[in-house]
Amino acid sequence: MRTTMIRKAHFNAAHRLHNTEWSDEKNKTVFGLCNSPNYHGHNYNMEVYVSGEIDPVTGYLFDLKLLKDIIKEEIEDRYDHKNLNVDVEDYKDIQPSTENIAYMIHKLLSARIDSKYSIRVKLWETERNGVEYPSRD
Ligand code: NI
Repeated sequence: MRTTMIRKAHFNAAHRLHNTEWSDEKNKTVFGLCNSPNYHGHNYNMEVYVSGEIDPVTGYLFDLKLLKDIIKEEIEDRYDHKNLNVDVEDYKDIQPSTENIAYMIHKLLSARIDSKYSIRVKLWETERNGVEYPSRD
């Protein structure tokens, strides 16, 4: 039987969305508050969905302790209390937008979790604004 397990986690991080090829005015128009020159923080909340077959012997889908440790090592240790533009390599060539961060989290977790499971990530930048990756359509 297939099912999905969910684990919540969070990290605090700073970022700035800015395109050096654009004027300050265009950056401000496109990125709004997230273009603030001296960076700013968000409390990111994430939900990780792991889907697969329930083990008929243990009744488990995936070891929750292992999932917790993987999220800590790959995401929290990497991003928590960091400036995403400056402190991590991941956003050297892409904007640290919620969309791209969710994509990156999915990529980092997928590299650590057996491919017989499928991974889905929801990332909330604010209480009301979030992203889901992969897309459902
Ligand atoms: Ni922002």
